[in-house]
Parts: sequence; C-alpha cells; structure tokens
Amino acid sequence: MNTRKLGSFECSPIGLGCMSLSHAYGTPPSEKEAELVLLQALDLGYSMLDTAALYGFGNNESLLGKVLKGRRNDFVLASKCGMFKNDAGVREINGRPEMIKKTCEDSLRRLQTDVIDLYYLHRWDRNVPIEESVGALSDLVVEGKIREVGLSEVSADTLRKAHKVHPIAAVQTEYSLWTRNAEIAVLDTCRELGTAFVAFSPLARAFLTGKLRDVSLFEEKDIRRGMPRFHAENYAANLLLLSRVEEVAEAEDMTLAQLSLAWLLGRDENIVAIPGTTNLEHLKENFSAVDRQLSAEAFEQLDQLINQNTVVGTRYNPATQAEIDTEEFA
Ligand SMILES: NC(=O)c1ccc[n+]([C@@H]2O[C@H](COP(=O)([O-])OP(=O)(O)OC[C@H]3O[C@@H](n4cnc5c(N)ncnc54)[C@H](OP(=O)(O)O)[C@@H]3O)[C@@H](O)[C@H]2O)c1
Repeated sequence: MNTRKLGSFECSPIGLGCMSLSHAYGTPPSEKEAELVLLQALDLGYSMLDTAALYGFGNNESLLGKVLKGRRNDFVLASKCGMFKNDAGVREINGRPEMIKKTCEDSLRRLQTDVIDLYYLHRWDRNVPIEESVGALSDLVVEGKIREVGLSEVSADTLRKAHKVHPIAAVQTEYSLWTRNAEIAVLDTCRELGTAFVAFSPLARAFLTGKLRDVSLFEEKDIRRGMPRFHAENYAANLLLLSRVEEVAEAEDMTLAQLSLAWLLGRDENIVAIPGTTNLEHLKENFSAVDRQLSAEAFEQLDQLINQNTVVGTRYNPATQAEIDTEEFA
C-alpha cells in the first residue's frame, strides 16, 4: 500500500479518527465494540490513529491506551492538547506552556506510553502568542515526550509564525467536499512548508455518506444539533446536492464515502484523511478508498456540484466559530 509523509513518519493515506468511539454523535459504542473497531483498523492497515485529550474528556485516550498498549509500534499515535476538561468539569481552551506540559503528562498516562508521535495544539488560545504554545511543544520534543508538533484549525499566518519556532509536521483542519476553507490559503502554505495536511471530518460528519437522511433523529447529546448545516431546513437543501453527487459516485463505481475520500486524497499528495466510524463495515469501506483514483471528469463535476457557494448553512455556530482561527469563506 502507498503511504504518506507525516513529519518524520510514513502512514496510511487514511488514518482512523477515534473521537466518535467516545463522544460526539450520540451514545458511543460499548468498550467491547470500540475495542473491536480499533483492533480491526490495525489489521486492515490503518497506520495512524487520531485522538485528543478532549475526546470523552480523556476517555478516548484511556481507551486507546488500554486496548492498544501491546501494539504501540504498529501505528503512528496522534493526540492533542490545549482543549480539555478543567477542574470545574467543563471544556477549556488553554494554550499556556505550563498547561500544555501538564496535559501532555495526563495524555501519556492515559495512553500508557512514554512518547506521543504527533501532538497537536487543538486550538490556538488567543490569550497566548502562538510562539509560546509552540515553544512548549518544542520543549516536549527535546524532552522526548512527543516526536512531532502539529496544529489544528489555524490560519496560514499562524502556521507560518509557529513554523519559525519549531517545524510543524501537520496541520489538522476540517476539509471535505462541503468544507473548502482550507483551499483559501492553508493548503498552499502546508505544501510550501512541507507540512502534512490532515483532513478531519472528511465525510462531513456522515452527510457525504448519503446514509444520514433524517436529522430530527439526532440524540440529545449529538454535537451536530448545534451545527447550522445540520438544521432541518438547511440540511434538506444540502441533501438535494447529494443526488447529483451520487450519480458521479455511480459512474466511478464507488460508494459516496469512497468517492469523498478518494476526492480528498487526489487533491494533493500531502493530504491524509481521518474518517471516524464505530462500525466495522464502514471501517473497511472507508479504508478501501486508499487505492481508488477519481477520473479528471469526476473532479471537475464534483467541484461544480458541491462547494462553498452551493452548500447551505455555516459549519459552526457563532460561539464555536469565534474559537477558530482559520480563514473562512463568507
Ligand atoms: N481537530 C479538530 O478540531 C477535530 C474536530 C472534529 C473531528 N476531528 C477528528 O476527525 C475525526 C473524524 O471526524 P468525524 O468523526 O467527524 O468524521 P467523519 O468521518 O466525517 O464522520 C463520521 C460520521 O460518519 C459516519 N460514517 C463513517 N463512515 C461511514 C460509511 N462508510 N458509511 C456510512 N456512514 C459512515 C459515522 O457513523 P458510523 O459510526 O455509523 O460509521 C459518523 O456518524 C475524529 O475522529 C477526530 O479524530 C478533529
């Protein structure tokens, strides 16, 4: 299988996003089910797993630590700091150096490992210059606690400032057919700096699979409830876009999920996609896209059908948007 560069590592072009094994889209699977997904992912060839201190407020890292400690050398382990559950039990964004170092110790303990391969700053904390937060991550590299530094949801400008302090191995940002903001500047900057681009929510949190039709069925805790694109009227309009995309998938002999992932991998050699799933069949289907290539005609059709001008609704609500540093299409 071909691999892609992630700092000093080589990994499968499709990694596994582990978030939904512990939280996000309603009730997470049981620990036994989650364990099966993780082990099956490694057996299929997924060689990068993505977690964060935030996911399940630490439970996701603990899950990976418990299930995979015997297979630590079989994959690139990526986690994130700077956004976590604080002592009051609520989510906090905090990029102060001492907090980054404390979170790293917590992550290492939960993950049952001595070193994290790739450690991202989950959000830039606007109260702290990016140079200071990245300086703390650079110290962690020197101390041997992490191997590579990454950033999540940052602008091209922030990436450049950070890269002067320490080489940024990867930027992780939402990117898919329906979220094109990275095309404004970040993708070009990553290419220029030799930074890998890790596309999160590459299946548009299930929209691009065609299987999610009725958003009124979301559970109370489903985070998509707070996202404007998933509000009933907007979602109904967005579903209309999918019927034409389905025709392209059929012509390419792919499922919608495979088409969406193959589209991402075909955009640039430095892109790695991290779909998330709790389902063994989906796990296999998604990974099979590593070997698929879209025709030039399909790229052209998809760009016309689904882009920032045709999708209805913003991706985040105003409060969440205020925490994001990336350039956004109006
Ligand atoms: N840095 C950040 O700020 C940030 C933010 C969000 C996410 N992330 C990372 O990105 C990863 C992926 O994000 P995501 O979970 O939002 O990704 P996603 O892959 O875009 O969407 C996951 C959703 O799609 C469904 N799905 C996946 N494959 C499917 C298939 N083949 N057919 C039908 N449905 C399918 C899943 O349901 P099933 O479980 O039923 O398959 C789940 O509801 C996360 O795990 C996390 O590591 C990072």
